[in-house]
Amino acid sequence: MEKIKIGVDYYPERWGEAMWESDAVRMKEAGIKVIRMAEFAWCKMEPEEGRFELDWLVKAVNLFGSYGIQTILCTPTNCAPLWLYEKYPEILQVQRDGKRTYPGVRSHRCYNSPIYRLFVERIIRKMSRVFAGNPYVAAWQIDNEVDAAFCCCDVCAEKFRGWLKEKYGTLDEINRVFGNEVWSGSYSSWTQIQPPLGDRSLVQYNPAYLLDFQRFASDGVVEYVRFQANLLRETFPDLPITTNTWYCDYMPDFYDLFEELDICSYDNYPSFEISEEGYSSHAFHLDMMRGVKRRNFWIMEQLGGAIGGCWMPMGKTPRPGVLKGMALQAIAHGADQVLHFRWRSSTTGAEMYWHGILDQNNIPGRKYRELQDLCRTIEKQKGLEETTILSKVAILCSFDSEYAWKLQTQAEGFYYLEQLQALHAAFTGYGLNVDIIHEEAPLDEYEIVAAPAVYVRNRKTARQLHKFVEKGGMVILTARSGVKDENNNCIMEAMPAGYREMTGCQVEEYDGIGHETNTVIMDGIAYPVTQWCEILQVDRAETIAVYGGEFYAGAPAVTRNRYGAGSVYYIGTVGKPSFYEALAKKMLEEKKMRFTTELPARVEMTVRENDEKQFVFLFNNDKKEKRFVLEGTTIELQPFEMKIQEKIKIK
Ligand code: GAL
Ligand code: ZN
Repeated sequence: MEKIKIGVDYYPERWGEAMWESDAVRMKEAGIKVIRMAEFAWCKMEPEEGRFELDWLVKAVNLFGSYGIQTILCTPTNCAPLWLYEKYPEILQVQRDGKRTYPGVRSHRCYNSPIYRLFVERIIRKMSRVFAGNPYVAAWQIDNEVDAAFCCCDVCAEKFRGWLKEKYGTLDEINRVFGNEVWSGSYSSWTQIQPPLGDRSLVQYNPAYLLDFQRFASDGVVEYVRFQANLLRETFPDLPITTNTWYCDYMPDFYDLFEELDICSYDNYPSFEISEEGYSSHAFHLDMMRGVKRRNFWIMEQLGGAIGGCWMPMGKTPRPGVLKGMALQAIAHGADQVLHFRWRSSTTGAEMYWHGILDQNNIPGRKYRELQDLCRTIEKQKGLEETTILSKVAILCSFDSEYAWKLQTQAEGFYYLEQLQALHAAFTGYGLNVDIIHEEAPLDEYEIVAAPAVYVRNRKTARQLHKFVEKGGMVILTARSGVKDENNNCIMEAMPAGYREMTGCQVEEYDGIGHETNTVIMDGIAYPVTQWCEILQVDRAETIAVYGGEFYAGAPAVTRNRYGAGSVYYIGTVGKPSFYEALAKKMLEEKKMRFTTELPARVEMTVRENDEKQFVFLFNNDKKEKRFVLEGTTIELQPFEMKIQEKIKIK
């Protein structure tokens, strides 16, 4: 297995050959083993149509290679050269207002454009020829941060019609499924099917239609990435291929996106500002990334300096310990490579103030020394590369629910992924590893499975959850479960539809209270709740908490039901961290699982292990020092410090 590597993102096209060698020397001295190059360099590789110039890139790859630094090469297809847009303006995305995007920034391309695909294929084939057999190319990254934004061009419109035809067959069926009688919206010809063009906000469109358009948009980008991966595989069948994803407004379905790629990778810009309210730890994002392929992942861009200075104001410079600590936090959650964005802050371009390891002055300073320290720390962890993370608690994630939720605001401040995050924070707070996995993933290895807000129906998920409880597992369901069918229409049944048997309760009425608060009383303690309150009618379940206020004071808010050999919790509202902590503790005690109550707030513990060894990671994700006793040993952690303890497993 490959060693765990620390790296940086590097832009040789920007710095010019004269600087490469001194950069390589400094990188080597820091302990850097890998760089990522070329994701925005198309115009330098193909300055005019059909004229390719790749010698400079080969030279750069070879030069860094000679210093022991491998390259993750990128297909440069995020930014087509301007000549390409000028000659073929139809490859530009069309926005919802019907206008083509104006080229001049980046990411303007329509993934579905056949002409664009032709040029993409050409540049990939050219790069493949030039880099075939190059020993310094370690992997490929496809494009950069692809998203599933809504392109409304004619090609996309026609492709969407084909997508619907394949799914539903006839216009009648589409009309039925979309419920198009509402507002007299039935299609009488295929040409009436359009992308969501127009100046009305999306929330005014039919949610069934919109969810399909979002799925279609995601499928388009997934297919585009596969198209590139297949081309690369012709020449590089043994190299890992990835694409770097991120949490953005129009996320592609991560599970689909990475299904045919070798490794999941992610751009990680954790905040080191600590909010007392809410959930700010990127441990959640990292665990979600590990869950995408249920295997370790890479970070292609990691916080390297002060961020912002472009679409948001410049932020603070990372405090001492932050760069190292946050990189180690990613590793603690399963990252096997961490590449920092970027080697040096740029002196030109829109993002010149988005800082890298070196500032524009090109003088190695505090951040460089911290990176060096990080590399040395990693070097010392022998065998860490062969370890993975084993968890007894899983949280299920559904892109259908994420999309449907985003397309229709449920109540102010109420957000799907945050329901997952709340439970993640509660269980990790007790020192447990937690997996976040696709809703259809196998559940055999878990004791507790949370399926927060299973909003859009998925029959396989429901079947698996039933089996899991029957065999003795514990399931947690939360508010807004069993609401929608697969088409994003409401189910005419009591909620949680498809789960009432196992919950032993049903939703009598609900109250979207948004930013207002109510309380629930659990074990004599009042906890504030907000956003959403479901008044539960208990059939067979036991009441765990009741509401403290409103016309439904005294009505059940949280229940537990025995089902098969297992049990099911239903949480009908949205609490603050202390509420989920209290609930998680109850659940862990009921399952007689091992956990610790000794971790102070914002101290995170994870374990990476293999058959022989365990690496215990203790991370202080806070700007205050921490001193506490863990299993009889006093532990002190500086702000953002990570301590790694190696333990031999006793068999
Ligand atoms: C990422 C992107 C990079 C750079 C960075 C800083 O989202 O992939 O190219 O823009 O953000 O903004
Ligand atoms: Zn398009």
